[in-house]
Amino acid sequence: MDTDSTAIADSEPTPSAAGGSGDESRPGVVIETRNLSKIYRDFWGRKKVHALKSLDIEVRQGEIFGLLGPNGSGKSTTIKLVLGLLFPSSGRVLVFDKDASETSKNERIGYLPEESYLYKFLTAEETLDFYGRLFDMSGAERKKRVDELIELVGLSGAKHRQLREYSKGMTRRVGLAQALINDPDLVLLDEPTTGLDPIGTREMKDLIKALRDRGKTVLLCSHQLADVQDVCDRVAILHQGELKELGRVSDLLKVQDVTEVHATGLSEEAKAEIADLIRRHGGDVKSIDNPTATMEDLFLNIVRESEARPGARRVSTNMASESPSEGDQEEGAGQ
Ligand SMILES: Nc1ncnc2c1ncn2[C@@H]1O[C@H](COP(=O)(O)OP(=O)(O)OP(=O)(O)O)[C@@H](O)[C@H]1O
Ligand SMILES: [Mg+2]
Repeated sequence: MDTDSTAIADSEPTPSAAGGSGDESRPGVVIETRNLSKIYRDFWGRKKVHALKSLDIEVRQGEIFGLLGPNGSGKSTTIKLVLGLLFPSSGRVLVFDKDASETSKNERIGYLPEESYLYKFLTAEETLDFYGRLFDMSGAERKKRVDELIELVGLSGAKHRQLREYSKGMTRRVGLAQALINDPDLVLLDEPTTGLDPIGTREMKDLIKALRDRGKTVLLCSHQLADVQDVCDRVAILHQGELKELGRVSDLLKVQDVTEVHATGLSEEAKAEIADLIRRHGGDVKSIDNPTATMEDLFLNIVRESEARPGARRVSTNMASESPSEGDQEEGAGQ
């Protein structure tokens, strides 16, 4: 298994990654990666894996941003770079306008790792109390927060049982509660639905959306394309460490030149005539719009295309189409 400690030892912070000036404030941007690259090296400093290549993404306040990609495409590496658990080989990561290597920012971050390492002889309550102590919370504050979180993740009935008796899904829920102990503004979730059954998955997705509704920013990575489609506002698709697609889910999944009646090349007049025709026949025209494909289609097409043509893929940088709508931002900034 890969260990973070090895990876840190394998990497040197570059001058650009070591903080310093240039942390200009970008309103509404919570995470920004600039030309971010990560090369894992072996003990002798020899290049082992080029895990991330010149990644440029922005995660904005109040959105759920998804990182998608096949195994080994650099998703977890990106999350660890954002956390400051790894140093970039080149480029930089800014979190809350500060370099990711600044540890003060971690008080505002919650992290659910790919695999939770929880002490299995503690109960859920004891586990969360332990993490509360790490954040210097008072006894009364901890008790309140732990009770709230156990309720939130649906473990009230099992809070006095030791974690070794928990199912995978229950353990994942404790992991999420642990990530939220400090009421973070930014939540990083590495494969949050792994090991959850469809109901647990649904609950996890609802929890993630509830975090956004409370003004939190969420960066998650997942293989579960349907889940990503359901919860994410925007996604980045990675393939072998390279950004292959970026945009709003609703825009990326929109199929152009196909109408609800599955005709191509129809004029607006023709559509209006069709709408009239439907109404004349007593039908109710709900919408005449472009249908959307599934996230699965988009993802597989990009992976296939990337296999056939390795190297950089032009990614639309149309910021207008990526921006959350006014309404989204206002909702997100509410708390
Ligand atoms: N500590 C490490 N030392 C050496 N190589 C590593 C290390 N961690 C990750 N890698 C390599 O970097 C690449 C990206 O790994 P990463 O874990 O970021 O991928 P991922 O997209 O999260 O994959 P998965 O979907 O399997 O979780 C892989 O080729 C992986 O083998
Ligand atoms: Mg991973």
